[in-house]
This record gives sequence, C-alpha cells and structure tokens, in this order.
Amino acid sequence: MDWREHYKSHLTSAAEAVNLIKSGDRVCVHHACAEPTALIDAMVANAAAYRHVEIVHMVPMGTSPYCAPGMEEHFIHNCVFAGGSTRKALAEGRADYTPIFFHQFPDLLRTELVPDVALVHVCPPDEHGYCSMGVSIDYSKAGAESAKTVIAQVNPNMPRTLGDTFIHVSKFAAIVEVDSPIIELPAPKLSDVEMNIGEHCASLINDGDTLQLGIGAIPDAVLRFLTEKKDLGIHSEMFSDGVVELIEAGVVNNSKKTYHPGLCVVNFLMGTRKLYDYVHNNPAVYMAGVDYVNHPLVIAKNDNLVSINSCVQVDLQGQIVSSSAGLKQISGIGGQADFVRGAAYSKGGRSIMAFPSIAKGGISKIVPFIDEGSSVSTLREDADYIVTEYGIAAMHGASLRQRAQRLIAIAHPDVRAQLQEEYERRFATLDAIDRN
Ligand code: COA
Repeated sequence: MDWREHYKSHLTSAAEAVNLIKSGDRVCVHHACAEPTALIDAMVANAAAYRHVEIVHMVPMGTSPYCAPGMEEHFIHNCVFAGGSTRKALAEGRADYTPIFFHQFPDLLRTELVPDVALVHVCPPDEHGYCSMGVSIDYSKAGAESAKTVIAQVNPNMPRTLGDTFIHVSKFAAIVEVDSPIIELPAPKLSDVEMNIGEHCASLINDGDTLQLGIGAIPDAVLRFLTEKKDLGIHSEMFSDGVVELIEAGVVNNSKKTYHPGLCVVNFLMGTRKLYDYVHNNPAVYMAGVDYVNHPLVIAKNDNLVSINSCVQVDLQGQIVSSSAGLKQISGIGGQADFVRGAAYSKGGRSIMAFPSIAKGGISKIVPFIDEGSSVSTLREDADYIVTEYGIAAMHGASLRQRAQRLIAIAHPDVRAQLQEEYERRFATLDAIDRN
C-alpha cells in the first residue's frame, strides 16, 4: 500500500487511537519536550478501560496525569527519571523506578522491557513517508521501533530534525493530527550564585573543547561565560537555547571536533521555539539515539571533551549523589555517568560537577557522609572537578585527605567548621606526621 493511503486510512481521533492500548500493556512514552500530550490526555481519560497499564517514561515535562492519586489501579508508572510531576507518586510508593545508564536504556527496550505500545510525537511525513521524531530521539526511537503498536501524534510544529531521526508512516497503527505548540523549557533566571559557578566552570574550558551540558540552571550559567572562547564544539545528551546563541555568536562552530567535525551531536533538545526553529531541517545538528550519542566509547572519540553536570550531594571522599536524597528519588542518573566516563577516556577530557554549595532547603550539598539510602551516581574514582560558587576542587589523582581539604575549601562558610571536625577525626594522624 502506498504510504499516503496508509496515512489516510489510519487517521483517527486521540480518543479512538488509545483503544489500541489494552490492560496489562507496557506503554513507552516519547521523551521530554516531545511528550505527546493529546495522546496522554486521551489515554488517561480512558483510564476506566484499563487495568495495570505500565507507563515507561523518562524526563516528564507535562503533568503526568497517570500518576495522579487513584490512578494506580489503571496505570503503574515505571519511571526512569523523576520530575516535579512524578516525584510524589514515587515517594508514596504508587510508582516504581528503574535504575539504568541512559545509553543502555534503548537496549532494555529491545530486550527485557519491550513495549506493547509506543506513543510518539512526530512532524508530518516527507515525500517518502518518513516522519522525523523531532526534539527527542534518545530512547524514544528504539522504543517505537521495538513496540508492537505505534500511535503517532503528528504535528506541523514538531521540527524536522536530521540524523538518525526518521520513522516511516507504515509503522503507525493509528495517526492523530494535532496543531499545538511543542512543550518549551524557557531559560532559567540565574542567581548570583549560579553566575559565580558558571564563571568558575568556564575557567576550566579551553578554546577548541567539545562540550556536554547537563540539565538544570548551571549549564545555562556556564554558557553565559563562554562568549570570549573560540571554536567550541557540542557532543551532548541535550542542549537548549544557550547553545544556539553561542552558534550565532560564532563561538560554537564544531571546527575542532575530532569526531563528527562540523556538527552538533545530540540526542534530545529542550528549549523554546527559537531552538526548535534553529534545528528544523538543519544538517548542522546531527541527532541520534542515546545508545550512540551517550555511549562512553563514542563520547571518548571526541578529544578534549568537557562534561558539565550537577548533583544533589558530594561527600568528603568525592562520591557524587545526583538523583536521590536518601530514598527520595529526585531525578535520575540520566547521562551523567555516561559522560563522566566518556570524558575520562577522551584525550584531554575533563568532567565538571557544579552546584550551589547550599541546596534549596538551606542544607549543605558537601557533607561528611552521604544520606542513608542515597544512590551514588558518580564514583569517587570517576570524580574530576567539583565546583561551587566558592571555587574549584580537583579530585582526580587526589588522596582522600587532599579531597577533603579541597572540598571543605569550596563548601559554604557556615558548614566549614563542622566539616573540619570530621576532617580531623579522619586525618589528624596524617596531619601530625606531616608536621613532624
Ligand atoms: N538534599 C535534599 N534535596 C535536595 C538536595 C539535597 N542535598 N539538593 C537538591 N535537592 C532537591 C531540591 O530541593 C529540589 O527539590 P524541589 O524541586 O522539590 O524544590 C530538587 O532537588 C531539584 O533541585 P534543584 O537545585 O532545583 O535542581 P537543578 O534543576 O539544578 O538540577 C539535579 C540538579 C541534580 C537534580 C540535576 O542536575 C540532575 O537531575 N542531575 C542528574 C542527571 C544528570 O546529571 N544528567 C546529565 C545529563 S542531562
């Protein structure tokens, strides 16, 4: 059948399309800003028709209505990255969490976690019947390829991104046309603390480096201090509007990249319409699955790869907790460990973990011991540069005593005395040997 006929004969409403989902199915949802909200809303409106539908999803950008109290009879959320709309269900034991390195998630969807249904959000087909999966390729393309049934939300506002981004219309069991804005993530307002952190991080970046930028306010702050740099490149899990500004300013040109020179390489995008217009039909941005972009051995093919990420807690040994506070799941490991490892294997590579010395609740992020129940995302052996608004602490090659000294020096002044007491309990003997 000609793809145009397939398209027409599978056009339906969202309410009809979600009847393809059956009780007990595993449903893989398109990631982050590509979330197909019309399909999710229709699925949740149809909740009474389902029992125990498993929702596999990573960074939630919508309201995650399948996590609302009372929905657990119908939907169980299997979360790979918690967010504001899913944390409560996790904390209350109404949702589960699967720990997995981001680069291994597509393989999980091809093997142990094969979806029955994938909900995707794509741009309209080209003349050959291919739709780009737009702003999120990551695990979402693998999820759609391995699902038995794919329901597509087709939207002219979804940018036609290029690379390994295409899925053919013949794969769609139901097609729902919408004309609604793609979810946007506006640039955060930056505090003085974040700006100080950005400035310290920028001092660790050299002309010609290739950058990975993580999630949160810190990467945005770093970008503000890169305007005087030259020939930067991008090989990143994600990026947002700040990178477009540096491309327009001629700072990012990918000219010195040793792998995919000339191209920004990325697996998902989160930003505003400005970013989405920039990537539309743009061959300078190569998008591919996270199993490729985030594979540490692929990352390491970029010389001078600098990864910049943030975290929840660091102990005095340099163990880095990034996705939980105790047993409370705050986010997920995402691509942090992928890039920290990749940067370690990159010739001239560096990884930076940057965060405000004090968390929102007023507690220190640098602690003597990590909270009971917290999961370590970056091992002390992998820790490299740790940055707060008070400076930079180099971990790689540093002994436990040196690490503790350096971390105390960049902790908030109010907690340094308490950290120092712990330091003395651990290292008084070594310090005394040094003095004699
Ligand atoms: N103890 C308790 N809670 C803490 C905490 C701590 N030490 N540090 C942070 N939190 C809480 C905050 O209070 C906030 O809770 P709220 O949303 O209920 O107010 C939440 O964690 C997020 O903190 P915030 O400072 O707003 O986060 P951020 O947007 O700067 O992101 C991370 C920081 C660590 C959550 C984020 O960088 C992350 O998820 N990293 C791991 C994944 C990763 O690095 N991926 C890399 C590529 S994308």
